[in-house]
Amino acid sequence: MNTTPTSPRDHFDRVAAAFSRKAAEYDAFGDDHLNLARLRRKVYDHVRRFARPADRILELNAGTGLDAAFFARQGYNVHAIDIAPGMLDHLAAKIEQQHLRDRLTYQALSFTELDQVAGGPFNYLFSNFGGLNCIPDLSLVTQHLPKVLAPGGKLTWVIMPPLCPWEMALLLKGKYHLATRRLRRGGVLAHVAGVRFMTYYFTPRQVMNALGPDFRLLGLEGLAVFTPPADRVDFPRRFPRLYRALVKIDDALASHAPFNHWGDFFILTAQDTRHE
Ligand SMILES: C[S@@+](CC[C@H](N)C(=O)[O-])C[C@H]1O[C@@H](n2cnc3c(N)ncnc32)[C@H](O)[C@@H]1O
Repeated sequence: MNTTPTSPRDHFDRVAAAFSRKAAEYDAFGDDHLNLARLRRKVYDHVRRFARPADRILELNAGTGLDAAFFARQGYNVHAIDIAPGMLDHLAAKIEQQHLRDRLTYQALSFTELDQVAGGPFNYLFSNFGGLNCIPDLSLVTQHLPKVLAPGGKLTWVIMPPLCPWEMALLLKGKYHLATRRLRRGGVLAHVAGVRFMTYYFTPRQVMNALGPDFRLLGLEGLAVFTPPADRVDFPRRFPRLYRALVKIDDALASHAPFNHWGDFFILTAQDTRHE
């Protein structure tokens, strides 16, 4: 599992193997991680602005089910899919531990195969923390939306863009390769739990283009534009005053252009207008 991917099947097998291996340590990485907890909170605040209480949510790359369980506890009906069986084992455990059987279901499925999803159509399609960066072309997902998203339905996708100011600042340290990696055409090789697979970065405009003219942009904000990226667990502890100052700047500016196109991620919400 250590050579460059050769075919789409091989790619998806690698992604599933990588995240299944990662699953056991995935939730623990978020424990005591102020920076990551803030980013998740910002995603939840964003979704709460657009989701209605009766919405049925389809989560596209649900991982270990942290968000799926959160939304189910909030009273939403959630169907969660992921390509990595190892991640879904942890989601299944959360359903039992948190008594969510009546509100949270799951299915091992790639989001490129949404025509096979159970229980649709849904009112809200949610994807958090870069799962969609694991495919080269978002139309592999959006081609299925007319079937899986109810008319007037919404989606909130959290995606990694090419422009991440924190990574670009590494130019100042002479780390050219790392600073410019997201800008590389043809994707970037990721290493997860000893497995290598390609990842791809998308601008909000590319997402809207993939969604097509039936979709209207409702909300767009940058996530970790001025604060460190999600993997910087140590920063708030080492530099608490600086971190608090950066959080203030981030909170004030990240939802305004051009900053809402940048960051470790952006949060994009759009609505299907087919039946307006
Ligand atoms: C960085 S994790 C994010 C997990 C979760 N959304 C979260 O916020 O913790 C990325 C997830 O995307 C999933 N994924 C990647 N490609 C996928 C695909 N084609 N279909 C479904 N899930 C996929 C991986 O298995 C992994 O669980």
